Amino acid sequence: MIGTGYVGLVTGTCFAESGNDVTCVDVDLSKIERLNKGEIPIYEPGLVELVVRNSQAGRLKFTSKAGDVVPHAKCVFLAVGTPQRDDGSADLRILWSALESIAPHLANDTVVVIKSTVPVGTNAEAARRLRELTGREVDVASNPEFLKEGCAIEDFTKPDRVVVGVTRPEVGEVLRDLYQPFLRTEHPFLVMNLESSEMTKYVANCLLATKISFINEMANVCEKVGADINHVRKGIGHDQRIGFAFLFPGVGYGGSCFPKDVRALINVANHYNIKPRILQSVDDVNEAQKEVLFQKLERHFEGKLKGRTIAIWGLAFKPRTDDIREAPALILIDRLLAAGAQVRAHDPVAAENVRKIYGDKVTFCQTPYETLDSADALAIVTEWNEFRNPDFFVLKKLLKSPVIFDGRNLFDPERMRQLGFFYSGIGLESRS
Ligand SMILES: NC(=O)c1ccc[n+]([C@@H]2O[C@H](COP(=O)([O-])OP(=O)(O)OC[C@H]3O[C@@H](n4cnc5c(N)ncnc54)[C@H](O)[C@@H]3O)[C@@H](O)[C@H]2O)c1
Repeated sequence: MIGTGYVGLVTGTCFAESGNDVTCVDVDLSKIERLNKGEIPIYEPGLVELVVRNSQAGRLKFTSKAGDVVPHAKCVFLAVGTPQRDDGSADLRILWSALESIAPHLANDTVVVIKSTVPVGTNAEAARRLRELTGREVDVASNPEFLKEGCAIEDFTKPDRVVVGVTRPEVGEVLRDLYQPFLRTEHPFLVMNLESSEMTKYVANCLLATKISFINEMANVCEKVGADINHVRKGIGHDQRIGFAFLFPGVGYGGSCFPKDVRALINVANHYNIKPRILQSVDDVNEAQKEVLFQKLERHFEGKLKGRTIAIWGLAFKPRTDDIREAPALILIDRLLAAGAQVRAHDPVAAENVRKIYGDKVTFCQTPYETLDSADALAIVTEWNEFRNPDFFVLKKLLKSPVIFDGRNLFDPERMRQLGFFYSGIGLESRS
């Protein structure tokens, strides 16, 4: 497993858990050192136990030296990052460098599997490069990953489907064997060509992102016309053609996948002279939505945020992860600091990652309640479960004024009004 991040570590560990011998490789030496000591460099529920158990059983190993393990591998997975370039396209430099690092060590029948999310054409290009580097044909398979951070082990071990792209059916069979333990409940193993497999990953993420931007846009309209998006959501969700999944209004999607994958597909479409109007709108709506909490705070305080203290609950881009890549909380913090406000923030696991960016410009608190000390308002950005049922009497006592801007609609607006709060959600009328 080349690349031991959110995807590589989970994938490698789960393959070890089903009895395979797995070695995870990473160029980040500190990561490898920590993993060899049984420490997990990321937060992912349930992962540490699996890593420790499989390491102790001798099935899961960690190294920084690809050359030591690649020659013995039946499959080499590439799970390195494919970040975004300034023009929105996927930056494949890490992938190509990883490919070059394994090429000299590949055995004759080894299958190279690209798990990273890569634009259409990348797998074929990888096969071409490997032919050039090794002087022979190397089997390359596409195997996009659909796991969600925070729920990654469950997603990986009970996938809705596994998608692989191949050029030879025999390669599909090698991967089917590997995935068989996770497909016992008849979930499909779908074999297709490389290009369809690559596109499947982008189309899935783009559709999910579209649902989020769509409901956020509807929420913004609801807010102006006296409708309540929570009621509207239920009104549409019971329609089986629509459903409830991914139709929660909020402060915009973040993370390491949706923003960059939407932009990468826009870039691919542009390359083929297709103007991807829906995708462009999805991205635009999302960027605007990340500003919504700040705009509401600014309006509430009539543009005078200087010297105010704002408490923030939740920094990770979503609950149950410490991942803060493209997190909406970062935009809110940037805007508040630029407006001269003080920020007191709490997140159950992501605070350390945010501290690396802001240092002591932000006050990081051990508990959600600590953030409220002398705060003029509370802004809720991430819907961690532990924020759902706070002691509202304590909240009211600690806040300088009982003002809550809730970016995740955690509370019942009517109840908040009765408790004496000014409460503003997304797509709801503000109540006080
Ligand atoms: N994070 C997710 O939820 C998720 C879900 C599905 C797909 N993906 C895709 O999977 C890929 C990996 O994402 P991630 O979030 O795990 O990334 P990550 O940044 O967490 O991990 C990538 C790892 O690869 C290592 N690396 C870089 N160059 C290397 C090399 N030459 N050899 C060995 N290791 C190297 C890095 O040090 C890092 O530890 C991306 O393409 C992403 O789009 C991510």
